[in-house]
Amino acid sequence: MRTPLVIGNWKMHGTQAVARELAQAVRDGLKRPRGVEVVVCPPFTALPAVAEILKGAAVALGAQNCHWEAQGAFTGETSPAMLAELGCRWVLLGHSERRHAFRETDEEINRKVASAVRHGMRPVLCVGETDEERRQGLTFTVVEGQLRAGWAGLASEDLARCVLAYEPVWAIGTGVNATAGQAAEVHGYLRGLVSELASKELAQSVRILYGGSVKPDNAQALTQEPDIDGVLVGGASLQAQSFITIAKKSAARSGASKE
Ligand code: PGA
Repeated sequence: MRTPLVIGNWKMHGTQAVARELAQAVRDGLKRPRGVEVVVCPPFTALPAVAEILKGAAVALGAQNCHWEAQGAFTGETSPAMLAELGCRWVLLGHSERRHAFRETDEEINRKVASAVRHGMRPVLCVGETDEERRQGLTFTVVEGQLRAGWAGLASEDLARCVLAYEPVWAIGTGVNATAGQAAEVHGYLRGLVSELASKELAQSVRILYGGSVKPDNAQALTQEPDIDGVLVGGASLQAQSFITIAKKSAARSGASKE
């Protein structure tokens, strides 16, 4: 049973005032979301303000990144313990902007995933190929490598807390989303891989989100695919109304979970 999950990644947007206003509007627009679980990931500086606004709300709080150590001499980093203390139940890891702009390696991402789980958070491991890799027919090879490395060494009870996000790099922030068919193909591949890496049960229960230019007008077609269990939304999550619409359109039709 997989309840669709919709996550808003605000990236490096939102002063305190903007974040508060956006969080309030999302909270008020999704008071009792049916058949969908909703998370927002504001920038670090806005987390306390947004946590306050979301107290007792149906929308959960997540972070966009974390370090793997609980504390230490790591100037400029934020630990999972610090995030958990603020009420973050989720954390995005291995986002393509982290991999490409900040040169995060698979090994570092793996340490982060393991640490996030240890601190009681649920990591969302992002994987995806570049335009060039897709043209060369390397899509499956790339996402497989990222998934194997990102989950390496994790016990099955840890993996049960994990979510995957397929985010083709060429679709992020470009306005060109993967078609439902293109995404479904990769989601199916990833689910098969989870079965091999972990178990059939985990492959059935793990949620695999799609991300990359998700908008109110394409969310439904994407999430209607049986293997697409929700969406990770960047740009369109900065507008409360479009994010709310995406969340509603991603909800399981009957109000029930996917099987
Ligand atoms: P986008 O970003 O929706 O703006 O394409 C998605 C993401 O980076 O997670």
